[in-house]
Amino acid sequence: MGTKSYLKNQDKEEEIKMEQEKTQVCEAVVVSNKPKAKDIWELKLDPGDDFDVTAFLPGQFVCLAPLDSSSTMARPFSIANISTSNGTFFVLYKVIGKNTELMTKLASGDKVKFWGPLGQGFLPCSSPDPDYDEVWLVGGGIGIAPLIFFEKVMTEYQDRLVRVFYGNKTKDEIIPLDLYTQEPLTITTDDGSAGYKGFVSDVFASFIQAAKNEKILVITCGPNVMMAKVAELCEQAGIECQVILETVMACGLGVCLGCSIKTASGMKRICHDGPVFPAKEVWDVLS
Ligand SMILES: Cc1cc2nc3c(=O)[nH]c(=O)nc-3n(C[C@H](O)[C@H](O)[C@H](O)COP(=O)(O)OP(=O)(O)OC[C@H]3O[C@@H](n4cnc5c(N)ncnc54)[C@H](O)[C@@H]3O)c2cc1C
Ligand code: FES
Repeated sequence: MGTKSYLKNQDKEEEIKMEQEKTQVCEAVVVSNKPKAKDIWELKLDPGDDFDVTAFLPGQFVCLAPLDSSSTMARPFSIANISTSNGTFFVLYKVIGKNTELMTKLASGDKVKFWGPLGQGFLPCSSPDPDYDEVWLVGGGIGIAPLIFFEKVMTEYQDRLVRVFYGNKTKDEIIPLDLYTQEPLTITTDDGSAGYKGFVSDVFASFIQAAKNEKILVITCGPNVMMAKVAELCEQAGIECQVILETVMACGLGVCLGCSIKTASGMKRICHDGPVFPAKEVWDVLS
């Protein structure tokens, strides 16, 4: 039995409310909402002066209140970037169902409710002497969204060499990436319509095998099968790998236990303990 499964529904609702109160529940104004690639949109939000966007860490996410009135489920979206100059943040979303379809109708000036920052994120500078001098980000499809924010923080604030691997099925799905530096960017498509032909994990494999002396940290987000392959290659090369997990979430606040997973160090909630996990902790989830 989960630690909280004895709670009655009413108690659960109360606890969710209390958690929401600890997190900031805000109303944001839509600054812009634009298509960026096939079925992928960029939503830029202004949460107002009371919300400090610099509180967001790479890997963290917000839950948007559902626009679909028949649903009460939180809709989690990774922070894809922030603008410190005008206090805005943006998310990239893929249209896959009713709520993301409704999101495409949002217009500049509309208001949306959200709560966050959520999750632990990843603070690369928390260690005084991190044991890596390059960061390799491997994104598959919409999994690139949180990695854009990592790229900004690692390059701008940490001055590390960041290499980005970005794979899609075909050219139409590629989002033009507004990266801090475009130079070490490797694009792949399964059908060869842009960049290297093949799976991003296969192209990543050739790079990692050629990297001999660099101390590398790898962070990956995308389909589980892709992350599993990347993590396996890192394991073989003795390189640290962090994965960003996704799942359907109900509360997004660590209360309902709906996103619990079995890890090497016990049960964890993706929304509360993650979504960034060391790959070696979550082999069972990836495979
Ligand atoms: C921590 C976290 C961060 C996320 N970040 C992003 C992001 O930056 N950009 C983005 O586009 N999406 C992201 N997602 C997924 C996003 O939350 C869902 O795509 C969205 O809630 C779908 O809403 P919908 O009503 O359109 O689809 P629904 O009608 O709810 O779902 C349509 C179909 O997709 C499945 N589905 C829904 N959510 C997920 C999921 N998380 N994993 C696997 N299958 C799912 C459903 O089971 C259903 O079959 C993230 C999810 C998590 C947990
Ligand atoms: S979604 Fe409720 S605990 Fe994670």
